[in-house]
Amino acid sequence: MKVRVYRSDARQRDAKLIAYDVPYTKGMRVLTALEFIQEHLDPTLSFRWNCGAGQCGSCAAEVNGKPVLTCKTEIREGMQDLSVFPLKVFPPVKDLVVDFAPAQKKLKDLRAHFTPAREKKPGEFYRLQEWQVQAAQEMRKCIDCFICYDVCHVLRDAPHLNFVGPRNLVKAAAQEFHPLNVVNRAPLVEQGGLSACNVTRCCTESCPQGIQITQNAIIPFKERVISSKDPFEKLLKKVLK
Ligand code: FES
Repeated sequence: MKVRVYRSDARQRDAKLIAYDVPYTKGMRVLTALEFIQEHLDPTLSFRWNCGAGQCGSCAAEVNGKPVLTCKTEIREGMQDLSVFPLKVFPPVKDLVVDFAPAQKKLKDLRAHFTPAREKKPGEFYRLQEWQVQAAQEMRKCIDCFICYDVCHVLRDAPHLNFVGPRNLVKAAAQEFHPLNVVNRAPLVEQGGLSACNVTRCCTESCPQGIQITQNAIIPFKERVISSKDPFEKLLKKVLK
């Protein structure tokens, strides 16, 4: 079969699709084809991978126009042509390797890195409810593949809106839903362009971990932004303080 792979250097000099002949074996994955090319046809081909089992998220690329984990994507028999591109929403580094730094910078703005939770007072007992465990655990299933970020049409079509992106909202939600969370992220996600998301669910549908990004991360944040502006809720918070 023919596997066409996007090749370039960081400055996009000589960016081109190169076609390689790869022997097809039943059940082979896209990552296997890339490894074959690197081992037998062109050792200069660059791509990331680590676990080979859909757990580390490092092997994501666009295969026939769709962002997927290459280690989990089977090449079906009879597929004559395969094209493999890097995740296009990120600045390229080389071939299929991209730079995630812009997304990581936005994550920092949401205070989603190692945010300390409120310390329990000595002897304080906290009963954690099952639904609270599940809400936080779902967000922690994220493997940082950035597939949801790559399919997001806001990030693709309106980068000027500087939207923080679905993956970063998942990370922020993992902190926000901790029952002892002390950070109010409503203003942070609002500044992060949350209103630009019109909940089309493309991120949710693409998530290899099955995280309900729209339903359980984006919509709750939207609700928090709205309620943070509600004068009645503000008053209630003051009274309950
Ligand atoms: S190599 Fe780890 S998810 Fe694909």
